[in-house]
Amino acid sequence: MTKPTYRVIQWATGTVGTAALKYFIENPVTELVGVFVTNPAKAGKDAGDLVGLPKTGVIATSDIEALIAMDADCVLYSPAQSPALMDTLCRLLASGKNVVSPAGPFLPNKWFPEQTARIEAACVEGNSSFHGCGVHPGFAGDILPITLARLMSRIDCIEVTEIIDKVRNPMIYTEMMGFGLDPEALLANPRRSPETYKAFYASMAMIAEALGKEIEKVTVKFEVSKALKDIRHLYGEVKAGTVGGQHYEWTAWVEGAPLIVYHFYWQLGEDLDPLWEQGEARYRVRIHGDPPLECNLLGGQDTSEHGDGRHPFLGLPWTGLVGCTVVPQVCDAAPGIVTHLDLGVVQPRGLVRR
Ligand SMILES: NC(=O)c1ccc[n+]([C@@H]2O[C@H](COP(=O)([O-])OP(=O)(O)OC[C@H]3O[C@@H](n4cnc5c(N)ncnc54)[C@H](OP(=O)(O)O)[C@@H]3O)[C@@H](O)[C@H]2O)c1
Repeated sequence: MTKPTYRVIQWATGTVGTAALKYFIENPVTELVGVFVTNPAKAGKDAGDLVGLPKTGVIATSDIEALIAMDADCVLYSPAQSPALMDTLCRLLASGKNVVSPAGPFLPNKWFPEQTARIEAACVEGNSSFHGCGVHPGFAGDILPITLARLMSRIDCIEVTEIIDKVRNPMIYTEMMGFGLDPEALLANPRRSPETYKAFYASMAMIAEALGKEIEKVTVKFEVSKALKDIRHLYGEVKAGTVGGQHYEWTAWVEGAPLIVYHFYWQLGEDLDPLWEQGEARYRVRIHGDPPLECNLLGGQDTSEHGDGRHPFLGLPWTGLVGCTVVPQVCDAAPGIVTHLDLGVVQPRGLVRR
């Protein structure tokens, strides 16, 4: 039974957390009761001031103990990756608060049995629920293709592709991800480890489970493209001849054939060799079978004064919002880890405000 309002704590205000904080302040179904920040320049400020909204009376704090002791229905937990991530997550769950989080471990997953067991135990202790969210994993590579499968009469293979042009959609992590390195060096030591697919495995397994199948193995490919000239981006420059593009491909095999393929194409503009012509930043789902289907998920056209009419990549704000919109259902769910398959069709409330 949906309550009139859900008392929510926003944990960290990075790109994802900022979108979530704004949502919780503005949405009438949620009542913001706490905000955790690490940045000393943000601590002590009103939550409204952090996102350019009127004052809320809720003051951002770095006091973890005070927030854990606070009474709240749910925490949107979106901190940076850190060694303390799991400890704090489990303490929040054990304190009786439901947690929705894009920060991983995303969902129960055979590759992360220890984390899964710890989260389950914390849920039992606090009589609380945990839901992993995000745009990918968490939406584009699981609930979206599962929903689209309703339009198919036979499925041969599902391809989910993330396409980001990091010149048009700059990200602070660009250098950290290996752009600008010697191509051979990055191929030998990819910054996104070949094992990263394990964090996405829950999404693949969820599709397979929804289709009544089981994944036998996942195979991994990685290729890079070279910058044909020096390429400037918001956070630096990559030199001609160094890595200007990366393509990861993970294939989940079912009954001896590929059933689910995830591609990630990250490119710095178009002066690249090879240039993988994937079009504008988006998530694309292609379902091969009968009838064949393609669905493109992309931000609305930027028609603002300084916009160029193209579509921005909204993966980070979407990661916050997909968590916010599920908060009531997670709070109302039975205790434990709740996946998309447990929640069924989510009914976001408070979005229509005339
Ligand atoms: N599943 C998905 O699709 C998906 C997509 C994107 C991101 N993510 C995950 O979502 C989380 C947030 O991403 P983001 O893009 O918002 O990151 P971000 O912009 O780097 O923000 C993370 C925030 O965490 C806080 N922080 C910094 N150092 C910390 C530490 N040592 N311990 C705890 N908190 C710390 C800071 O908050 P304050 O500024 O408030 O101090 C920082 O702004 C990450 O864990 C990321 O991996 C998941």
